[in-house]
Amino acid sequence: MFHIEKISSFDSPDLQPYATMKRPLEQERQGIFVAEGVKVVRRLLESHFAVASVVLPEKWLDDFRPRIEARPEPIAVYLAEKKFLEGLVGFSMFQGVLAVGKIPAPPSLDDILRNSRPPRLFVAVDALTNAENLGALVRNCVAFGVQALMVGETSSSPYLRRAVRNSMGTIFQLPVIELNQRRGELREPQTSLEKTGTRVTRPSETLAQTLRELRARGVRCIAAHPHTDKKVLSQADFSGDCCIVFGSEGDGISPAVLEACDEAVAIPMSPAVDSLNVGAAAAVFLYEAARQRGHC
Ligand SMILES: C[S@@+](CC[C@H](N)C(=O)[O-])C[C@H]1O[C@@H](n2cnc3c(N)ncnc32)[C@H](O)[C@@H]1O
Repeated sequence: MFHIEKISSFDSPDLQPYATMKRPLEQERQGIFVAEGVKVVRRLLESHFAVASVVLPEKWLDDFRPRIEARPEPIAVYLAEKKFLEGLVGFSMFQGVLAVGKIPAPPSLDDILRNSRPPRLFVAVDALTNAENLGALVRNCVAFGVQALMVGETSSSPYLRRAVRNSMGTIFQLPVIELNQRRGELREPQTSLEKTGTRVTRPSETLAQTLRELRARGVRCIAAHPHTDKKVLSQADFSGDCCIVFGSEGDGISPAVLEACDEAVAIPMSPAVDSLNVGAAAAVFLYEAARQRGHC
């Protein structure tokens, strides 16, 4: 079931998420995100994520109609031309197709361990603040069979618009534990579930604590670290349950997180280069992990 309306402004409260696209923290706190582009919005509509609304130029309506009609929830569909939308959101868009989705309740570590088949493959990111890099890393995770992503307390959210866009919508397939969750701060709990704290929780654990907990449950934590001379990628063993940890663009993996890992492993490189982009490093590590597991 859906309702269609032509719009000429973002004044209606339902359209506020589009008007606040340049204030991503506000959206994150409200537990919503904006998906952008034809492919990403199609993937959102095909996913289990709840969708609130879609904005698109009229010429795309017939293309999107079957996916919108197949959704279980009522969705508001707003028609607006690309030029007009760009004027309102303040940046240029390729196709002018946008949607607002709802960030799902985060799974617990127990859920993730219970729901992933061994040998488990997880990824963790420490202080990764560039949303585009995080989106590219998410895409690599899904491409190589990662079963869950742990996002450290000082990292960006993978549900920022640029991260969702760079993931090409693969984020809708990856269970995520965010350790810096700010959701629910702006609003009062509305349901009894929220009042008990089940949905409006802010996990107080740090990434280092989470990695120690994973190790206690038999998951080997492997730091992807360009500065180690102890082990190179071809010597690393990814055949059992493991979590590969990637660091930030500026400082790499923090000492506390490195200390919480079982070992550090480097991709050997020319001495002329200090490190790879984190998305590229993730593709190399995850390909090797998938290869050892017979998935590539
Ligand atoms: C841009 S690099 C970090 C550079 C940072 N200046 C440093 O010295 O660690 C971002 C992340 O990508 C991964 N990475 C990049 N190059 C790597 C390599 N050659 N071996 C292992 N991991 C690498 C690491 O997880 C690293 O923390």
